[in-house]
Amino acid sequence: MHRLLPADRDPAARDDTHRDDTDRDDDTGPAAVDDAALAAHYAHPDPGRPYVRVNFVASADGAVSVDGRSGGLGSDGDRRVFGLLREHCDVVLVGAGTARAEDYRGARRPTRGKDTPPPIAVVTGSADLDPGASLFTDTHVPPLVLTTARAPAERRDRLAAAGADVAVLDDLEPATLLAELGRRGLHRVLCEGGPSLFGAFVAADAVDELCLTVAPLLAAGDAGRIATGPAGTPVRAMSLVGALEDDGSLLLRYRRTGDHRAGH
Ligand SMILES: NC(=O)c1ccc[n+]([C@@H]2O[C@H](COP(=O)([O-])OP(=O)(O)OC[C@H]3O[C@@H](n4cnc5c(N)ncnc54)[C@H](OP(=O)(O)O)[C@@H]3O)[C@@H](O)[C@H]2O)c1
Repeated sequence: MHRLLPADRDPAARDDTHRDDTDRDDDTGPAAVDDAALAAHYAHPDPGRPYVRVNFVASADGAVSVDGRSGGLGSDGDRRVFGLLREHCDVVLVGAGTARAEDYRGARRPTRGKDTPPPIAVVTGSADLDPGASLFTDTHVPPLVLTTARAPAERRDRLAAAGADVAVLDDLEPATLLAELGRRGLHRVLCEGGPSLFGAFVAADAVDELCLTVAPLLAAGDAGRIATGPAGTPVRAMSLVGALEDDGSLLLRYRRTGDHRAGH
């Protein structure tokens, strides 16, 4: 059961008509949030250009994976929000490292207001994806492969033959990726990582929002953090616009400070 923490600053989720006060702990404790409030809380803005929402889960000590995958970190509430975010987006953008590590398959539920689920768009410089993987064989809509002409043509051809929509771009810079998605009318971009792709988006100042679940776990080990990249990336200011608690997990929403991204 999601509970709204006092830190929540999202007007939609503060709307008392959506709260289920029968589930309130006491007069001052956080209120439970019903399905309508949760959906309002996670509505994906569409300002008429790609709006990038990034979703991650990490342990309380900052690990992005356990044994190389994120599954060991997520709670039922995190999985529920993971699904809800997909229902609100036009496209799920993911780096090839994550698609390979997590054996990505197509999204299941249709985007709200549409008949089909969002396509999975995989960013890959190598086009080294298995055409027999779930991404291609277990999906309701063709995946989008975003690559360049530097990837071997035979690999690109194999992925196209497996049903992918292969877009050959000039480069894989975030601005180029977003221009391609925007050209296709895919404005509500949900980036599910991984850390390398997220790092590139942070460095390019191309992130509008971060949904971060902090799991009540200590993982240690050699797992990395949610964003990686070269040193020297300028720090970006974000505002906390939402905070939910679910069984000890914190589901946080940060939005970029200011109205516009660089270049928009
Ligand atoms: N906790 C979470 O919420 C979460 C979420 C996602 C992932 N993960 C974990 O993160 C790990 C994978 O991390 P990762 O950093 O290898 O994955 P990644 O960011 O998903 O993928 C990196 C790959 O993306 C491709 N790429 C193409 N253009 C790029 C660009 N401009 N910037 C960055 N990447 C670009 C490259 O693929 P090619 O090699 O094909 O050229 C690169 O090797 C896995 O263990 C996964 O479980 C955790």
